[in-house]
Amino acid sequence: MEQLAVHQEFPRPFALPAVPPRCWTVTGRTRSPLARAVRAGSVRTGPAALAVVLGTDYRPADDALLLDAVARARADGLPLALLHEGAGGISLLRAAGSEDRALRFASVQIAARTPSALAAAPAAAAAALLTDRLGGPAQRGEVLIDGQGRSVTGHWRRLELPPGEGPLTDAEPAAGHLPGGGVPSDLSTPAGPYAWPGAVPSGRSMPTGPYAWPAAVPSDLSMPAGSSSRPGPVPYDPRGGRPVGPVLVTGGLGGLGLRAAAVVGAVTGARVLLLDVRDPGELTSRERRVLERVRSGPGGAEVLAADVTDPAAVAEALAKATGGPPATVVHCAGLIEGGRLDGLHPADLARLRAVKTDGLRNVLRATDRGALRQIVAFGSVISRRAHSGMGGYALANEVLRRETLRSAARLPGCAVVVAEWSLWSGAGEAHRMGVVKDAAQMGMPPVPLRPGMDALLAMLRRPPGPGRAAALVVTGAGDRGFPEPAAPAP
Ligand SMILES: NC(=O)c1ccc[n+]([C@@H]2O[C@H](COP(=O)([O-])OP(=O)(O)OC[C@H]3O[C@@H](n4cnc5c(N)ncnc54)[C@H](OP(=O)(O)O)[C@@H]3O)[C@@H](O)[C@H]2O)c1
Repeated sequence: MEQLAVHQEFPRPFALPAVPPRCWTVTGRTRSPLARAVRAGSVRTGPAALAVVLGTDYRPADDALLLDAVARARADGLPLALLHEGAGGISLLRAAGSEDRALRFASVQIAARTPSALAAAPAAAAAALLTDRLGGPAQRGEVLIDGQGRSVTGHWRRLELPPGEGPLTDAEPAAGHLPGGGVPSDLSTPAGPYAWPGAVPSGRSMPTGPYAWPAAVPSDLSMPAGSSSRPGPVPYDPRGGRPVGPVLVTGGLGGLGLRAAAVVGAVTGARVLLLDVRDPGELTSRERRVLERVRSGPGGAEVLAADVTDPAAVAEALAKATGGPPATVVHCAGLIEGGRLDGLHPADLARLRAVKTDGLRNVLRATDRGALRQIVAFGSVISRRAHSGMGGYALANEVLRRETLRSAARLPGCAVVVAEWSLWSGAGEAHRMGVVKDAAQMGMPPVPLRPGMDALLAMLRRPPGPGRAAALVVTGAGDRGFPEPAAPAP
């Protein structure tokens, strides 16, 4: 029986309704061209609204800017529009909206600083605040303005995963067993120009190359029928089982990281590097058995004690590791913490983001990028759907998604995937906290361990290249909250 649903977001043109211009109060990066454009589009007699403006990359100061904007919008009873050039932040606003149903919010991203995009942004923000056609208030509220000033929104398409054949993670794996045979065609769908919205590279000029947004978006925005991509290189020879480099798993002693290490190590035969702040002594007896199995796998394993947020510690740990530079990075390190936004401080947001985003950045800085063949970063579906009390975690995962997809531009030989998982059963923090059953009763079936790990293996087999970098949302099949029901056609 089908246990998972995998979705990817694709852009489609979206005609925003004409609405009266707003009288904007602009906060954030107030001296940027985008902020100037919002002020230029402001009409004194229009209905009042707040605009918080961010840039291309999410910066540490943005935590305070977003929290302040949310607090001010709530205190003054004003709608809040986020306008940005790739930094993101809508996930925090969604959480704020589910914690305070009176808050109206929307997000507009411009793909490039063209005169047309800048001119269109304030009207798009005003319209996005009013229209209900951008999906339910819990989820979407997001518009992208292309270089020609046209508005685009996202819609979800389901991808089919082939049936899993991977080893059970807590059972004895068949050594050298290679699940699935070839690259699963449905996961190899070209994603580049469609990887909305995080794939717009950083930089202040019009994106070029595979991200030449929106020129690269075909007019019908659909995938050619029967399209499939050829397999990309894998970091090991499937016949001889010879790995070309170790697999580095950050958070490798965590619930999911340890299982990922066991599965990927067994399947590839590669040496496994488990990098974590957790001490192996903290593992349960079941987890210790999994670790022993990883250690006795074909390539062996090493536990590297390092905090991913500490660049020097990561560099030192990786310099000491044996087996050559990693060919694969599975970035599982993460902090999972809740808290309503009105009780959170910028430092709380920064801490949650650091493990995810700084963590991956530090790992990439400390590794030989030329040797890297695959990266899978563990994100969360919470960056896509509102969840009260999880705004900080949602933001950390949204920024991780955006930065990871952007990093693909600097990793031409590498397959880059952000796996935006729903909660897992069988292992991991949600399982440990005992919340899986309640979530299933609320319409969120979990990602069971085995199919989830099969999905991970399928992601590791995606072909390389920035044009194929993708964020894939993986939920249990039949999730009632994701994707949210489609917005009515414009
Ligand atoms: N479990 C789920 O249902 C679920 C769903 C969606 C996404 N995810 C994501 O999947 C990943 C793994 O989740 P999990 O459930 O396996 O969580 P977990 O059991 O808590 O594992 C995370 C591991 O990362 C370690 N870690 C935390 N901060 C670190 C740092 N600064 N440097 C190095 N290691 C650090 C943790 O150590 P400490 O325990 O000592 O902090 C822990 O060993 C996370 O990124 C999470 O956001 C999980």
